[in-house]
Amino acid sequence: MKLTSKLIMLASAAALIFTAITSPVYAEQAPYTVTNGNELDAESYKGFKLFRNWCARCHGTYGQGMVGPNLADSLNVITKKSFFNTVKNGKAGTIGSMPPWKTNVKVMEGRDHLYSYLKARADGAIGVEKPKKAKK
Ligand code: HEC
Repeated sequence: MKLTSKLIMLASAAALIFTAITSPVYAEQAPYTVTNGNELDAESYKGFKLFRNWCARCHGTYGQGMVGPNLADSLNVITKKSFFNTVKNGKAGTIGSMPPWKTNVKVMEGRDHLYSYLKARADGAIGVEKPKKAKK
């Protein structure tokens, strides 16, 4: 290989690395924080409490699944928008059927919190265990 082509290759490699380092990261920020293994921020902890009250009887105490699907798995697949829609309108599918929650103000207003808790479960930030509320 000629020296000039080697130099060109080197220069383009350097340019690539430079772009990789300087490009901003657009990844969505996690909607929760977990500290000391099982301590959730206040909002996500609210989500856990709502989950326990309204969802756990079908989806398992920590979302691990029962008659309803494992939501820790689901939240790695479905979008936040689809989560919001499904909770609002319910879902009838191959697994079974879930009632709509649109008339339940607590659930409807807590969808963000529910999502945060379940996202923490989906990311494995918190396991199949009882979370605590982080002290500040
Ligand atoms: C009466 C039982 C029951 C309750 C209570 C229940 N669900 Fe469900 N849910 C189901 C079933 C069954 C499905 C699966 C429907 C299908 O696809 O066959 C489901 C599906 C879902 C899905 C879609 C999962 C996916 O992969 O598409 C989401 C999200 C969900 N539930 C969230 C919730 C939340 C949040 C609550 C509490 C507010 C809740 N569910 C309460 C039974 C229930």
